[in-house]
Amino acid sequence: MSSPVLGSLNRKASGAVIVHAPGRINLIGDHTDYQDGFVLPAAVEHVLEVHLQKNGSPNLVNLKASDLGETYSFELTDYSATDKGWPNYIMGVIYELQKLGATIQGFDAHFTSAIPMGAGMSSSAALECGFALALNALYDLDLDHESLIQASQRAEHHFVGTKCGIMDQFASMMGKKDQVMRLDCRNLDFDYFPCALGDYQLLLLNSNVTHSLASSAYNTRREESEEGVRYLQKEFPRIKNLRDIPLDQLLQVKEKLPERLFRRCHHVVSENQRVLMATHALLNQDFVTLGRLMYQSHRSLQEDYEVSCPELDFLVEQTRKHADILGSRMMGGGFGGCTINLIAKDRVEDLVHEIRKNYQNQFGMELSPIAVTIGNGAQVIDKS
Ligand code: GLA
Repeated sequence: MSSPVLGSLNRKASGAVIVHAPGRINLIGDHTDYQDGFVLPAAVEHVLEVHLQKNGSPNLVNLKASDLGETYSFELTDYSATDKGWPNYIMGVIYELQKLGATIQGFDAHFTSAIPMGAGMSSSAALECGFALALNALYDLDLDHESLIQASQRAEHHFVGTKCGIMDQFASMMGKKDQVMRLDCRNLDFDYFPCALGDYQLLLLNSNVTHSLASSAYNTRREESEEGVRYLQKEFPRIKNLRDIPLDQLLQVKEKLPERLFRRCHHVVSENQRVLMATHALLNQDFVTLGRLMYQSHRSLQEDYEVSCPELDFLVEQTRKHADILGSRMMGGGFGGCTINLIAKDRVEDLVHEIRKNYQNQFGMELSPIAVTIGNGAQVIDKS
């Protein structure tokens, strides 16, 4: 049921909140989170802004995606996933909060986002976390951040159908200005590390490719990694998932796994090592090592995990010619979206110019550079 009835109900008896929820980058550590691994993400200053206002009705929710000019309405007593897309993230969050015992009543909401969609910057996690935090504030639910993060993740599993890990929601909620976080997805232990990059900066290059099968391919990779674990458990009965197996042990049993599953496991296990090494490199201001690890991560995602695509591979290859770019890798779920690059500050303009031209010649497509600044996690901006 869709209706443009925003603002039609009594607002006098009500409260209102405004929340900002950011997108995220990930320095290194992709496709590790759902195997209890390590990741090194940060929130960015590109945010989604959510406005929520009680509308005085017991059950009617009116949503508006302002950027799309689309609305969607439903009753809190009777809703289910729709083929429209964006309302599912919000209904999923409501559903998960209700399961936690939250009493939510009718409200009107609208949101707008500066996070590019389909770029792999987790605009969807921002939508989930933005609504989770806003509902928490509007109805004084008193849920802690961890519960909101996990409810947001489950919303994506159950209402959207992507069996994502916890990284995106965690980064969107817990980000801190100028800091990356090393998150242990096993127990959600995390540390902040200053992202001080000296003469270098992070730059995203958006391939503008969005793969329509990205979500199903993502779920397939997750299943393959779980299948790999089942093989490994025959050799090492005590392991719970790929986090439990060191690289040398995995290499010892290479022949016991089907080749494809071995490569999937090899990516996850080696990527976990790279995250830990990258954290050291960052702390030691050893940007050359950090960059090398980024390149290794890309190769592993490309060849072992097979979640890259020709456009992303091309963009990474382009950077290898330039000593002023220390590292480059695809970022996030893959099959399109962005590369993340560690690039000398004073060379950004001319290098982007050249890569953009080559990209256009090769694929006939526009390349969009995105300068990112590391910002804070989701916040209530206003409450009345
Ligand atoms: C998507 C998922 C995350 C994570 C990344 C890959 O962004 O939402 O949980 O698995 O892909 O690292």
